[in-house]
Amino acid sequence: MLDILILAAGKGTRMRSSVPKVLHPIAGKALIQHVIDTAKALTNNPLNIVVGHEADKVQRELSDQHTFILQEHQLGTGHAVQQALPHFRKDSIVLILYGDVPLISRSTLQRLINKVNKNSLALLTMHLDQPKGYGRITRNSSNKVTAIVEQKDATEEQLAINEVNTGVIAVSAQHLQKWLPELSNNNAQGEYYLTDIISMAQQQGVEINTEQPDFEWEVMGVNDRRQQAELERIYQLNRAKKLMAEGVTLIDPARFDCRGNVSVGQDVIIDINCLLIGEVAIGHNVSIGANCIIQNSVIGDNTVIKGNTIIEDSEVKADCTIGPFARLRPGTKLSEQAKIGNFVETKKALIGKGSKINHLSYVGDATLGDDVNIGAGTITCNYDGVNKHQTTIGNDVFVGSNSALVAPVNLEDGVTIGAGSTINCSVEKNTLSLTRSPQKMHKEWQRPIKK
Ligand code: UD1
Ligand code: MG
Repeated sequence: MLDILILAAGKGTRMRSSVPKVLHPIAGKALIQHVIDTAKALTNNPLNIVVGHEADKVQRELSDQHTFILQEHQLGTGHAVQQALPHFRKDSIVLILYGDVPLISRSTLQRLINKVNKNSLALLTMHLDQPKGYGRITRNSSNKVTAIVEQKDATEEQLAINEVNTGVIAVSAQHLQKWLPELSNNNAQGEYYLTDIISMAQQQGVEINTEQPDFEWEVMGVNDRRQQAELERIYQLNRAKKLMAEGVTLIDPARFDCRGNVSVGQDVIIDINCLLIGEVAIGHNVSIGANCIIQNSVIGDNTVIKGNTIIEDSEVKADCTIGPFARLRPGTKLSEQAKIGNFVETKKALIGKGSKINHLSYVGDATLGDDVNIGAGTITCNYDGVNKHQTTIGNDVFVGSNSALVAPVNLEDGVTIGAGSTINCSVEKNTLSLTRSPQKMHKEWQRPIKK
């Protein structure tokens, strides 16, 4: 039986921010949410979260299915865990995590948990060339852990130890109930150190097991914006490597960002500086040019997205061509083989199979049939200043360049609109419609002469 506790009461002074530290993002997601998501994969029970500094803000940001425990004054990690004691089930193992250490992995935690039972505890430790700042792990002559000594309390000799406490501990609730009330704050920082339970365990003959993380970055914390940026790059590079392992070509994995979940088919090529946000599903053989942003969208097989295109809350079927410099706003649905060219903006638009909007247009609140050709500079005038109206276009319609389609308006199948028209009446099937002032000729016209 596992109870998970996440410590998140600390202030995070070095972030120099009005936002609580644990709410700052890595890959668009709050630091603590990363920890929560990993923890949720280990247990179905509500997570226990100790909040303190700006507790309300933290609690509001996170869903309320967790048990929040208020630590009004931050008197140390031991004191923090003590506040949570009433919430632990009697026979559970308690896994203690930090809300500002976002990249801890499930597999590392699973290995740690496997090393603990009612008569033992498990510590996640690590060997560092530069152990400064961390609690040091002291061991006896038979290499058994005897204590954790905090940096500020350590002797010269202890400071030379490079095995450090990562902060992650798994221990039985019964031991915590017994040991935590005995903690004292008689130390260099005047804090109740959770780490003092290690020497208690050792003295009482409780076995202390250690385990190491797979990677150092799993246990790196965020204390300032520089560390936040470092972890962001580590996270992104890991995402990039995962995608490459799934068969994606990334032209430069160091210039790829993902803030969400991506599924990919085979032989996808992603050029530099692309950003994928939210839930993105990409089919086979999709090519994405440089500087594209794709958010909460589905992209069908063989579609080509040229550079500098932005796609948001849209659905693109197979064999489409989009961009460069196109903007698909929410509610755009492209059927197979549709083409959206440069400086075209679409919104709540259903574009039929093989239809083309190739240059400089706005198509919003519109339904287009198959094989429609929308000429350069065409605008669906969907807004009368108060309400939005719909434009409906049938199959095989040709709209000449620089036309304004004043909604609500309906162009039936086979309609042709002459260039430069302002169309505010619906047009029947196979009809040519145009509004154009007659072209005048002034044969003897003289240009003005400069005085
Ligand atoms: C702690 C460990 C140290 C370890 C290091 C790893 C102790 C005494 N020391 O030190 O051995 O090497 O982490 O990073 O445990 N927190 C609370 N309430 C408090 C104090 C802290 O919720 O009263 C939370 C913080 O928000 C943070 C975590 O606990 O998420 C760790 O606190 P921090 O002050 O960073 O501990 P360190 O001094 O780094
Ligand atoms: Mg710390």
